[in-house]
Amino acid sequence: MARCFVTRRLPGTALARLAAEHEVEIWPERLPPPPTVLRERTAGAEGLLCLLTDHVDAELLGACPNLRAIANYGVGTDNIDVAAATARGIPVGNSPDVLTEATADLAFALILAAARRLPEAQAAVHAGEWLTWEPDFLLGRDVSGATLGIIGYGRIGRAVARRAKGFAMKILHTPTRETDGTPLDDLLVEADFVSIHCPLTAETRHLIDRAALRRMKPTAILINTARGPIVDQDALRLALTEGRIAGAALDVTDPEPLPPEHPLLKAPNLIVLPHIGSATHQARERMADLAVENLLAALAGLPMPHQVND
Ligand code: DGY
Repeated sequence: MARCFVTRRLPGTALARLAAEHEVEIWPERLPPPPTVLRERTAGAEGLLCLLTDHVDAELLGACPNLRAIANYGVGTDNIDVAAATARGIPVGNSPDVLTEATADLAFALILAAARRLPEAQAAVHAGEWLTWEPDFLLGRDVSGATLGIIGYGRIGRAVARRAKGFAMKILHTPTRETDGTPLDDLLVEADFVSIHCPLTAETRHLIDRAALRRMKPTAILINTARGPIVDQDALRLALTEGRIAGAALDVTDPEPLPPEHPLLKAPNLIVLPHIGSATHQARERMADLAVENLLAALAGLPMPHQVND
């Protein structure tokens, strides 16, 4: 029986399966454990089940001599210093696939919501600003037949492309190891909607900067359901304020959450959601299943079913 620290309550029954085999401590609060608490609790643990809100860096790992397994509740592992874990021989697991469709659904919902100005339309109804049917009230942009540029053509990017085909969209995507694609600079110039689906790495941090935004059409809309720091938010705020692009819809920001007084939130034609890409009952329960399966395997000395390091 190993000691495990789980940094939040999770939906479904997966944690009960973990507790049936191991001694499990679950952080009971709504907010993440503060860094000192994370460090203190993980220091005595052999297994850690953490979330994207927990920063597992080299310093923390150095304080956890017994740690044998890290299971991240999520597909992205940018909150973990995977190289440092690998150097210590600690397997790191993630929870891919089970959230692909939910996240792609949300990306497409954002494409439609931004194109057809749904938040503004609903606000107008609630504010009593809907006076009558008018020929030029709340005009948006066609999604059907438009060009979609997908940055990061992995599982989620491809799932978004499948949805876009149903809308007769022309699809461009950045190159992958297996497929040719459209170079990013050309994609930005041609796309009516640019949707980000790449992981956050040193190479993709601020990938969408001032220069990238300047390449986009003034009628184009930027969608980000990947990670906030991929977009330079100051540059985005300026681009929206100066009307250099038509709109943006973000499920992810930097930081998360954005403080209510953050200047980005004052920009026009912007939708911001609270990182709910995978937030369906089904996806979140399956993510818990995978995280627990990863932890159980590694604690039993087996490879994790979804291990991101060697
Ligand atoms: C992930 O899994 O990385 C998401 O951002 C959370 O759903």
